[in-house]
Amino acid sequence: MEIVDIQYNIKNETITKLFYQADFLTFYKSIVEKRHVVVITDENIYNCHEDKLQFVENLMVVDAGEACKDMDVFQYAIHTLLDFEADRNTLIIGVGGGALTDFVGFLSSIFMRGVDFGFFPTTLLGAVDASIGGKNGVNFGVYKNLLGTINQPKFIVNDPSFLQTLDISEFKNGMAEVIKYGCILDRELFGYLENIDLEVIVNDLECLNYIITKCQAIKINIIEKDVFEKGDRKLLNFGHTIGHAIEMSNHFPHGFSVAIGMNYAAQISEKLGFLASEKRERIQNIIEKYDLPINQPKSCDELWQMIKGDKKKNGDKINLILLNDIGSAFVHPIDLEDFKSILQSIIN
Ligand SMILES: NC(=O)c1ccc[n+]([C@@H]2O[C@H](COP(=O)([O-])OP(=O)(O)OC[C@H]3O[C@@H](n4cnc5c(N)ncnc54)[C@H](O)[C@@H]3O)[C@@H](O)[C@H]2O)c1
Repeated sequence: MEIVDIQYNIKNETITKLFYQADFLTFYKSIVEKRHVVVITDENIYNCHEDKLQFVENLMVVDAGEACKDMDVFQYAIHTLLDFEADRNTLIIGVGGGALTDFVGFLSSIFMRGVDFGFFPTTLLGAVDASIGGKNGVNFGVYKNLLGTINQPKFIVNDPSFLQTLDISEFKNGMAEVIKYGCILDRELFGYLENIDLEVIVNDLECLNYIITKCQAIKINIIEKDVFEKGDRKLLNFGHTIGHAIEMSNHFPHGFSVAIGMNYAAQISEKLGFLASEKRERIQNIIEKYDLPINQPKSCDELWQMIKGDKKKNGDKINLILLNDIGSAFVHPIDLEDFKSILQSIIN
């Protein structure tokens, strides 16, 4: 496969001239001739894709999944970069899911005050969401993403062969973010998702590519206008305030938690009179259609302990992202007490 530019036709070149479609080895070989490259991946991905990754000269394999965002892995990575004689001109390539790209983005941003980095996302969630937008970070003890920066990668490359080894549950996980884009910004995407199903997405490469490039275009369009989340980037948090609380208290995967968060946020939108009940039902139906959960077992009080600590809280108010239609979201500042009582009416 040759290296193909994906043109998203958006003005800000620093962010949008990022996307390529290419096979990993072709891309790697084209770069390694010109500069010092370190590739970082995780154990699971290495085991599934050793055929490609074994040819990398400076390859670092770290713990799989969320574990790579631990501080001890971070220290190990810095020692390994030094062993590889990395310097300020080194390019670091992260090959992995959202956890790995979060970790690589942060590591690259602070190593020697910042070196260039780029990503090959290997999960659906990584391809449509986590690899895009420059947010990166690691966990500190129980505190998720406590340490991080906003720093854009130099490239994001779609190599569909990576996704072929992905477990079905990881496809579902990623579908939550895909559904989110439909809910908040793109009624046409929402309708498209209503008319297909998970099996089609997993088995039809054309359909999968369509979904990935569509979501990348939606996210990049938002980011390029609002890198630092002062305006429309907030809309991407639909389902996430409640979702993060669910993720932390239940240890559910990110996408599964966001799916429940979106269902609750749609219910709040309906209860506050913004969203017609028939549209709220369509949102619940599409979440269930992709075999994602709509409820979680914790009490409202238990979730509330987590929501109270949300980074996005501002004094006694919090910004909720609500819907007034499918494909149309807005920021709704709400008193914490009002939020708690409406959440209680949904959960208890
Ligand atoms: N930076 C952002 O904007 C942003 C947005 C959303 C989520 N995130 C972060 O993303 C992370 C979740 O990402 P994720 O859902 O991609 O999960 P993940 O990165 O933890 O990967 C899930 C599992 O799949 C395995 N895996 C990955 N690719 C594979 C492949 N091609 N074949 C086989 N196995 C593979 C991994 O080893 C892991 O065990 C969380 O840490 C979350 O905080 C970041």
